[in-house]
Amino acid sequence: MSKRWADHFTERAKLEGYKARSVYKLREIHERYRVFKLGDKVLDLGCYPGSWSQFALEQVGERGRVFGIDIVEVKDLSDHRFSFHRADVLKLSPGELLDRVGPVDVVLSDLAPSTTGIRVVDSVKSMELVLKASEVAKTVLKPNGIFVFKAFESKELGILRHEMRSLFRNLKAFRPKATRTRSKEVFTICLGLKT
Ligand SMILES: C[S@@+](CC[C@H](N)C(=O)[O-])C[C@H]1O[C@@H](n2cnc3c(N)ncnc32)[C@H](O)[C@@H]1O
Repeated sequence: MSKRWADHFTERAKLEGYKARSVYKLREIHERYRVFKLGDKVLDLGCYPGSWSQFALEQVGERGRVFGIDIVEVKDLSDHRFSFHRADVLKLSPGELLDRVGPVDVVLSDLAPSTTGIRVVDSVKSMELVLKASEVAKTVLKPNGIFVFKAFESKELGILRHEMRSLFRNLKAFRPKATRTRSKEVFTICLGLKT
């Protein structure tokens, strides 16, 4: 994707009132895999600045709910269906989270560590977040729930996907158009948590 095209998403996000260009990644994922339904409860891990939560709120309707978690506070997303909890995901107990939010239909993880530029360090930090998100998803998802997560291509991701394949009915790997060409990120969509 050219830089001009990447900028197109940034400009479009501004015009359409979204907090980040990454909203178009989730939109494309939803258009392809129908992640959200009306009335869904959604947990958004690494939600700041809030564009994925904005999009989820649009999809779940009046009876839906979105719970966002991030180490950075989301201050300006005022919607009675949205609750924000400031926390380090790595320190969260999935069981306590379940007590707090109750079972959910969808877990999203766009978690990304602050990078050091040292590839091996960044890759380990990113995998640590992904593993934690999958632990949370396994604990808080309702039967038939959906887990969408971002990760960087690696051998470890292959191992995690293998595990997720046994827990979910279907698993898809997807690279949205809004992902920058130089990025190694890929999204995994785990559909239908088995009971
Ligand atoms: C790519 S951004 C998410 C963008 C968001 N999906 C959106 O569309 O607005 C990644 C987020 O992960 C958060 N993050 C990284 N490590 C975290 C941790 N240990 N606990 C909670 N949030 C974390 C960062 O603060 C950052 O806001």
